[in-house]
Amino acid sequence: MTSRESHRAEARTEAAAASSARTRGGLAARAGHAAVKEGTATMTDELTLLEKAALLSGESVWETRSVPRVGLRALNLSDGPHGIRKQLGSGDHLGINGSAPATCFPTAATVANSWDVSLAEQIGEALGAEAAALDVDVVLGPGLNIKRSPLCGRNFEYFSEDPYLSGKLAAGYVRGIQSQGASACPKHFAANSQEHRRMASDSVVDERTLREIYLTAFEIVVREAAPKAIMSSYNKVNGVYAHENPHLLQDVLRDEWGFDGAVVSDWGGSNDAEAAVKAGGTLEMPSPGLDSARQLLAAVEAGTLTEAELDVRVAEMRTLVDRIDPSLARKVDAQAEHELARRVAEASQVLLKNDDALLPLAAGTRVAVIGDFAETPRYQGAGSSLVNPTQLSTAREALDGSPLAVVRYAQGFRRTGGADEALASEAVDAAREADVVLLYLGLDETSESEGNDRTHMELPLNQVELLNRLRQSTDRIVVVLSAGSAVEMPWIDDARAIVHGYLGGQAGAEATVNVLTGAVNPSGRLAETYPLHLEDNPSHPYYPGKETSAEYREGLYVGYRYYSTAEVPVLFPFGYGLSYTTFAYGEVTVDAEGATFTVTNTGAVEGAEVAQLYVGRVSAGVHRPARELKGFHKARLAPGESATITIPFDEYTFRHFSVANDSWAVEAGEYWIGIGASVEDIRAFAHLEVAGRAADADADPAPAPYATGAVGAITDAEFATLLGRRLPELEGGRRVLEANSPLLAMHEARSPLARLAAKVLRSLIARSERKGKPDLNLYFLYNMPFRAIGKMTNGAVSMEMVDSIVTMVNGRHLAGIGGLIGGFFRGARTGKRLAAELAESAERPTPSTDSVRTGA
Ligand code: BGC
Repeated sequence: MTSRESHRAEARTEAAAASSARTRGGLAARAGHAAVKEGTATMTDELTLLEKAALLSGESVWETRSVPRVGLRALNLSDGPHGIRKQLGSGDHLGINGSAPATCFPTAATVANSWDVSLAEQIGEALGAEAAALDVDVVLGPGLNIKRSPLCGRNFEYFSEDPYLSGKLAAGYVRGIQSQGASACPKHFAANSQEHRRMASDSVVDERTLREIYLTAFEIVVREAAPKAIMSSYNKVNGVYAHENPHLLQDVLRDEWGFDGAVVSDWGGSNDAEAAVKAGGTLEMPSPGLDSARQLLAAVEAGTLTEAELDVRVAEMRTLVDRIDPSLARKVDAQAEHELARRVAEASQVLLKNDDALLPLAAGTRVAVIGDFAETPRYQGAGSSLVNPTQLSTAREALDGSPLAVVRYAQGFRRTGGADEALASEAVDAAREADVVLLYLGLDETSESEGNDRTHMELPLNQVELLNRLRQSTDRIVVVLSAGSAVEMPWIDDARAIVHGYLGGQAGAEATVNVLTGAVNPSGRLAETYPLHLEDNPSHPYYPGKETSAEYREGLYVGYRYYSTAEVPVLFPFGYGLSYTTFAYGEVTVDAEGATFTVTNTGAVEGAEVAQLYVGRVSAGVHRPARELKGFHKARLAPGESATITIPFDEYTFRHFSVANDSWAVEAGEYWIGIGASVEDIRAFAHLEVAGRAADADADPAPAPYATGAVGAITDAEFATLLGRRLPELEGGRRVLEANSPLLAMHEARSPLARLAAKVLRSLIARSERKGKPDLNLYFLYNMPFRAIGKMTNGAVSMEMVDSIVTMVNGRHLAGIGGLIGGFFRGARTGKRLAAELAESAERPTPSTDSVRTGA
């Protein structure tokens, strides 16, 4: 063994040791990370400049590049958060082509309702084990963006409107995934809360809101679970693309939180390869061919990028490879994973209403099962997270195997499309024959999807009309809901009981039936507020940002932080959920360490309660929401049993981000500590004097409305004051498009051909929506900037050609075509030359960096 080989072997052993250490917690993991880093030091000397540059972008849709000469293997990356989507045939990142069977767990929005970190960790372990079995090294998840609006098309993939809950659950996933030797890749970092123009939108958000709301969940994950990789988001954050944002990637992620892993771009989310390397973006995915490598070489040649800067990112790639150790993975037992998926779904069911204790239903109850969702479950969302389940339960099958007596099934309504009298009257007949109607309603596949935000929060009209009709013949209706995000319920009075199963994964239907029969006592609690009306949501006036920028004018007042501060009534508050038993809370005592109280199960059956700790400030000081979640504990209790629970305070409990001092601070003074069964159902509270900085040490720049939470009509001037700078200019009118303008902006392009193309695209989208099948490709194209054509075509289209396309769109057709043809030949020539040089250096035993020509 040469000394270099033995060094690498040592590094790998250290990597293995580090990986197992990670299962014991973040701190131990970080020590392991440092050990691995040393092993990468000499590797950068062994690579040619071209090899280094090439390593920083993907080889294909899912693979990184390898340099076997130095023992660097390629990594396989795969979605997604709630199951492994290992594609077998041609790769795409939109859930279009098929993938290997894998367990489809409930989506993050569902799991969040469990408020159970250990369950999240078990899902993570299963994901990690399945990843290893499918040769996947990096699992692209979990997704933990904040639900700024109920309309975000990807809310089903995200946990919560609250950063503390999101961060704790996501950390569980990451610990679990990484305990099996794989890398997790929490995403999308950061402030990525809308799908509209997702790759070409600038999230304009004040620093305090950014830190306290949009970054805190990621901070918890990084500090507690030490992910080996993290995915940057598509959007800009305050004017700079996330993948090349030094404030996000260097100041906050690396310097402040101590992240020492690799930052992976979202697919097609890299903008400027040089800027990414300088700012802290490690790996550009998927494959831009060698065009980004060419740009990096040109930058080194021009002296705007140093080789040392490149080396830092290359070392991060090496470290990522060294930290992955599939030998740590346990065996996969498909049936056991299915049962885990069912247990998770059971713990996540939310009982929203149960008048006169209609539920649980006694054995033998004669039920009519109505609704298309009972036959064809909606159990996951559309897009890159789409999993090919190993098996799939339906409500009909689960009910047939239950103690209930199913008298009839009726489809009731068409999933997409308008009223159907025949189906409706068949359902009414079925209802008449039964004691209880189980009515399966939900959002269809087009209603919530990656790439497309919702425009309203209603259930389809034909479903609501059916409920109204059924209500005329019976008042014993149980609505079972399938939806990955909040819906309005103007129809709530027509249902005696409502069980919300969210998107329950492949075993979700079984879980819901177990709740209906009482085999499982529901213990899910909402991880997002259900407003009475969409218009009540604080982001509503500003969401989604339609032009280049998305302005986060509501500031800190996201979700319940707004409703509880501005005292706006809601349908169901954050943290809410019923049980078949009842819980009583004792007094709470607080000291500097935490809050202690007792919870007693006062009902007749075993059940689990989620006790929630909220903090507010009593003394004057900087503006802040009335209540913020700072801890929670799920306790399972037998009838009559009591538990004494202590929820400890931590570094997040009292802090706020001081804009004046550009740092975290704790204001001295009196705080309110509330213990509740939801944010609005506070059962005990106490006050606590906390030491810290004098309250007036932090000048609060926020204008008046922020003091009361009345943020529904923030003016330009007020928002500019909160931001501490002028608002970015909005684009408008027919204009000159750029490489970063989304294709949808072609509606206003100077070229009539481009305007026609935009029209055709829009009408194709409308057609696919009418058919009830979301076409992810079309959504993606519509919101995608021209730049991504270069970033996602494996080198077939260079950035030079992208610029020519944009020239054509701007009406200069001849100049554009000339550039396109010239660019094609130049790009192909350079690509070929660089590929040949790469192949040549692969053969060399001891390459010299001097001999590599740049591709400038
Ligand atoms: C999504 C990511 C996903 C990636 C790869 C992107 O479109 O935003 O969440 O991991 O594709 O499929």
